[in-house]
Amino acid sequence: MVWTQIATAALAGAGVANAAYSIATPDDIKKTAADVAWDMMQYYTGNLTGQTPGILPGPPPAGDYYWWEAGAMWGTLMDYWKWTGDSTYNDEVTQAMLWQVGPDRDYKPPNYTASLGNDDQAFWGMSAMLAAENNFPNPPEDQPQWLALAQAVFHTQAAPEQHDDTCNGGLRWQIYLSNNGYDYKNSIANGCFFNLGARLARYTGNKTYADWAEKTWDWVRGVGLMDDDYNIYDGGHVQNNCTDINRAQFSYNNAVFLLGAAYMYNYTKGSDKWRDRLERLTDATIKTFFPNGIAYELACEKHMTCTADMLSFKGYLHRWMATATQVAPFLADKVLPVLKKSTEAAVSTCTGDANGRTCGFKWETRAYDGSKGAGQQMNVLAAVSALLIDQGPPPVTHDSGGTSKGDPMAGSSSRHAKNEPRPITAGDKAGASILTILLIAAGVGTFGWMSTGV
Ligand SMILES: *[C@@H]1O[C@H](CO)[C@@H](O)[C@H](O)[C@H]1NC(C)=O
Ligand SMILES: *[C@@H]1O[C@H](CO)[C@@H](O)[C@H](O)[C@H]1NC(C)=O
Ligand SMILES: *[C@@H]1O[C@H](CO)[C@@H](O)[C@H](O)[C@H]1NC(C)=O
Ligand SMILES: *[C@@H]1O[C@H](CO)[C@@H](O)[C@H](O)[C@H]1NC(C)=O
Ligand SMILES: *[C@@H]1O[C@H](CO)[C@@H](O)[C@H](O)[C@H]1NC(C)=O
Repeated sequence: MVWTQIATAALAGAGVANAAYSIATPDDIKKTAADVAWDMMQYYTGNLTGQTPGILPGPPPAGDYYWWEAGAMWGTLMDYWKWTGDSTYNDEVTQAMLWQVGPDRDYKPPNYTASLGNDDQAFWGMSAMLAAENNFPNPPEDQPQWLALAQAVFHTQAAPEQHDDTCNGGLRWQIYLSNNGYDYKNSIANGCFFNLGARLARYTGNKTYADWAEKTWDWVRGVGLMDDDYNIYDGGHVQNNCTDINRAQFSYNNAVFLLGAAYMYNYTKGSDKWRDRLERLTDATIKTFFPNGIAYELACEKHMTCTADMLSFKGYLHRWMATATQVAPFLADKVLPVLKKSTEAAVSTCTGDANGRTCGFKWETRAYDGSKGAGQQMNVLAAVSALLIDQGPPPVTHDSGGTSKGDPMAGSSSRHAKNEPRPITAGDKAGASILTILLIAAGVGTFGWMSTGV
């Protein structure tokens, strides 16, 4: 997740006219989800000979996708498996999740240091957490275990060297001093940390995680990244004490906080405090990101200036709002009809390209808009499979059926020094010069205002 302006797919001609998918019955939903998943996986070449398992083509300029997005994709497929029962991709998911753990088993593989933010690391951590919550098949015993991986990510982010007094606290966006964006504190990095803390608290029952989640929520509110109306803004710079808030709003910020708040509500046994926060955040999220009852990426959809990152946010929005209704069932009547209507629009875009079923991005148009990619497929896969949310069991915990092994010490041997020296590789240099070019372009371009924080 770097400050770039990825050219979105050029408007390819209108697709072959085709009847859109059906989501009328559970069987239709499963069939549709299976096809959409298959088409998504055509972007993944990591299991072919000579390729790197676990990643989508990239990171730029080698391909369109930053490292984090594949981590998000594996989580999407874990939910796909849980909700539909189709285990076609489980082995690939496991291989991918384990290949990318890095030498310290904390999702900080050295290959991706140059684009490694706390949010990037946490997207993999959240997928590991999901594996534990979904009782996804456990890795072999000599391999790192799902819960321990989620803990490792959380513990490295809770380490004292990741927290300083600028802006009164909070996590920085980037982990390493050498990265662009180290001077930025943003909602997504803190939102992911909050989300993981809340989920680890519910899963393990350990209050330390809940305390961090509370503290993070309070910080985000205090610094103004979440306002009194529950709008969530992108971030601010430490040299300005985070008062220069970039007010761009992205749906994944709302989604990550919404799901975390639902887990805190559940962890606190339905406390009034978390119920109130969750309810208001849900209302604000529906108002802002479903303006006509259909998911809409506010900051970039109108003029299609969405980066490859942003083209995947609707999927997290749908999946995480759906899961929230399992740990906070009082939300179901409000949320599920919204997700259903939005998903109907989503599948109506899947009529594109030569195969006549490629999905687009502008769901509101109810037609294929020529924008295709792994993110666009992942969005629709998430939305469609989440329609089955009320047919399956809620996420497990350590005392309600969870089998994943944890490790309270996970992550403690990690190298998390913020300015840890590392060799500059040719890849970094290429990355850095591309970044410079793009930043200059963004500075003079129309959309420079929103080119941060993803
Ligand atoms: C790679 O994944 C595809 C499914 O997307 C599967 O059909 C194929 O067998 C896998 N190849 C290897 C080498 O695992
Ligand atoms: C890192 O890059 C090397 C060289 O391309 C590759 O062999 C290895 O699998 C990569 N590791 C990860 C975790 O992506
Ligand atoms: C709770 O979690 C914290 C942070 O990981 C850990 O230091 C502590 O030992 C845990 N407490 C228990 C009782 O497991
Ligand atoms: C920075 O902002 C925080 C509120 O987020 C405030 O409490 C603190 O006093 C400010 N510090 C400075 C040096 O202005
Ligand atoms: C917490 O989640 C469980 C599902 O695991 C659900 O049955 C329960 O009602 C939730 N608690 C509250 C207070 O909603």
